[in-house]
Amino acid sequence: MRHVENEAILILDFGGQYAQLIARRVRDCHVFCEIKSYKTSVEEIKNKGYKGIILTGGPNSIWEKSSPKCDPALLEAGIPVLGICYGAQAMTYCLGGSVATAEIKEYGNTSIEFDLTSSLFTGTEKTSVAWMSHTDQIKEIPMGFRVTARTTNCPVAAMENSDKKLYAVQFHPEVEHSVYGSQMLKNYLYHICECKGDWMMSTFVEATIQELKETIGDKKVLCALSGGVDSSVAALLVHEAIGKNLTCIFVDHGLLRKNEGDEVERVFRQQFDMNLIRVNAQQRFLSKLQGIEEPERKRKIIGEEFIRVFEEEAKKIGHIDFLCQGTIYPDVVESGVGDSAVIKSHHNVGGLPEDVDFTGIVEPLRDLFKDEVRQVGLELGIPGPLVWRQPFPGPGLGIRVIGEITEEKLGIVREADAIFRGEIAEAGLDRSVNQYFAVLTGVRSVGVMGDDRTYDHTIALRAVITTDFMTADWAKIPYELLEKVSRRIINEVKGVNRVVYDITSKPPATIEWE
Ligand code: XMP
Repeated sequence: MRHVENEAILILDFGGQYAQLIARRVRDCHVFCEIKSYKTSVEEIKNKGYKGIILTGGPNSIWEKSSPKCDPALLEAGIPVLGICYGAQAMTYCLGGSVATAEIKEYGNTSIEFDLTSSLFTGTEKTSVAWMSHTDQIKEIPMGFRVTARTTNCPVAAMENSDKKLYAVQFHPEVEHSVYGSQMLKNYLYHICECKGDWMMSTFVEATIQELKETIGDKKVLCALSGGVDSSVAALLVHEAIGKNLTCIFVDHGLLRKNEGDEVERVFRQQFDMNLIRVNAQQRFLSKLQGIEEPERKRKIIGEEFIRVFEEEAKKIGHIDFLCQGTIYPDVVESGVGDSAVIKSHHNVGGLPEDVDFTGIVEPLRDLFKDEVRQVGLELGIPGPLVWRQPFPGPGLGIRVIGEITEEKLGIVREADAIFRGEIAEAGLDRSVNQYFAVLTGVRSVGVMGDDRTYDHTIALRAVITTDFMTADWAKIPYELLEKVSRRIINEVKGVNRVVYDITSKPPATIEWE
């Protein structure tokens, strides 16, 4: 792993919901980190030369037979360790202390008292607030430890053995409600683990380009460009490394948003002088989709056709050595307790082509979180609107035209969507509303325009606030804005006489309508 040569922290995942949040906080301190399962062998951990280890929280009780345990050798390896919540209990259990169910469970903001002689608490105040969420707690500390924080109901809210550089906190410093949480993480990283904090996006970009040059040499790389931020940034990194030896295939399936295809072509061909093949396959997709109404069938057809087109184009190029993919860290990070890797659950258009002959895959973004990918994009000079683009599903407008897809319906939803997006951006909401789009509902209703009766399409507007897209709230965007969008759509988009706003959260609804 390239960054470990410099300095890295290992986050050992015990199944806690906050593993990725801890990783983000560590990276905010400019320290590179990796998340791995608690099952990772001590041998492997030692070989990687981590500067420190963080044991995450987790849903189990340490007393259960099957609950994840900490290997004693890990705590003897001479590497600083910080146990958080369940991680603190696992450390206690492993070193012969005891853990018991708390008489009074603590949840949420809790008043806490710190021992300021602990180097973990340098720069904090004696009394403060920390975020608690636990059922069990440390009852007896292991030999050689001392208590360094307490709350009314939790006599061991933190403990340490500074000689062995072992630290444990029952609360969650990674959660922003813990007032001095980030200060504590900094203390741990900079003072206890002695990290320098020199993990910067600019150094990442330079190092990655250099590494890509070495891995790829003068071989040929192929990339499926979708116009989405991940594939764009991945392709550009490879392009910076090997120039024209990278070929990008951009399949325009005709289900893109207004002007999107031309914009992608302009940016990558003109601005970056990339070797770009645009395949205009609109008619091909439309004819395959003719008469199909069922959402999952549409998805499947679009996904499969995409791969077929990609394969055909790839074959024309001849032998390919590497395929470049925009995989990012949340796609590959292993879950702490399960055995399988958590893969993006969404049926992305693309997937791996079966019929293209290549010898390896390059995934230059494998170590990055989404917002870090965006930073790299900006470093590389990708225009803001592309870098900050909201997520757009692989099947595109194909799942935003409810029921059968026709060219006419695509035209209607595309225009309505462009108006909605334009107004959201104009109102300055494009970075705070996480996804927003128009749907052609398939409902026709009666209206009146001038003196005439109309019987036309209904457009639904959907806008959501979400962090992970697994759950979402409908966005409370101002009525005036909705009114303006509705008026413009009715006036400017032929064939629409009604606009409705979707006020359902996820669950029970999904974000997309299909
Ligand atoms: P749902 O509708 O499942 O959407 O609440 C959650 C997020 O996933 C996107 N989405 C997709 N992305 N292929 C994709 O690449 C798909 O088939 C697909 N379906 C939904 C959706 O836009 C939202 O961001």
